[in-house]
Amino acid sequence: MAESAATPGGPTMAEEGSAMRVDVVTIFPAYLEPLRLSLLGKARDRGVLEVHTHDLRDWATDRHRTVDDTPYGGGPGMVMRPEPWDAALREISSSGGPAPRPRVIVPTPAGRPFTQACAAELAREPWLVFCCGRYEGIDARVIEAWADDEISIGDYVLSGGEVATLVMVEAIARLLPGAVGNTQSITDDSFAHGLLEGPVYTRPPEWAGRRVPDVLLSGDHGAIARWRRDQALRRTAQRRPDLLADVELSEADRRVLAEVAREAAASAAEPTDADAAPASADAR
Ligand code: ADE
Repeated sequence: MAESAATPGGPTMAEEGSAMRVDVVTIFPAYLEPLRLSLLGKARDRGVLEVHTHDLRDWATDRHRTVDDTPYGGGPGMVMRPEPWDAALREISSSGGPAPRPRVIVPTPAGRPFTQACAAELAREPWLVFCCGRYEGIDARVIEAWADDEISIGDYVLSGGEVATLVMVEAIARLLPGAVGNTQSITDDSFAHGLLEGPVYTRPPEWAGRRVPDVLLSGDHGAIARWRRDQALRRTAQRRPDLLADVELSEADRRVLAEVAREAAASAAEPTDADAAPASADAR
């Protein structure tokens, strides 16, 4: 693994006043067009993020612009050849970026999991290069020679690294200061405190017979903060109890979690339709 350019926990490049540079190498540059939209487009317009998309085939040397070949040892599909990748990465990394060398990332289902902590770590880098593999993947020697990280966005298999790159760049870019209008919305995010975010509401106060919880209309900021924390704890306990192991809990938090546990035990003890005696043949 090569050294990376950023200090853990240090300032992001945007805090230091320079844009983060992201290069993406792919055989489908059009897949990365969404990087021009919405928040990512705004971050680019504001000079917080600079994105360069490259077509790997520009570094192929034959008439057909071939970038793949059959796998050694047999088996299905094709493998991406090392030479175009090496030529692309040499040219890009010597193109005068904001650091002596970029951090090179290969999205792959075989990588370490992408998390909010990982997004925050990468947001501190000045320069990232994403290598989007297709087919059965990229020749392993390219990964050995160039990759700083192999990262998976989840336990499922996509057809290539492009969508995984979009996911990661969006999660990273919104952490760059100046990219999101309201920085509070970042600190309140699901995962920002290790908890899932609770439900949110807007006008009208009653819709389709459903009322917004009274506390949110009360103007009592302390009570609202406590309610939000309770909802986040409840939701996390119900949907992702594994996350609670890393959360610092107050006495009040523990009381909420004990209540959730009691409710879960009570509802597990309640008879369900499935427990009811099967209907007799006559009744059917
Ligand atoms: N490429 C294909 N599937 C992927 C995944 N789950 N994560 C990252 N890159 C991928």
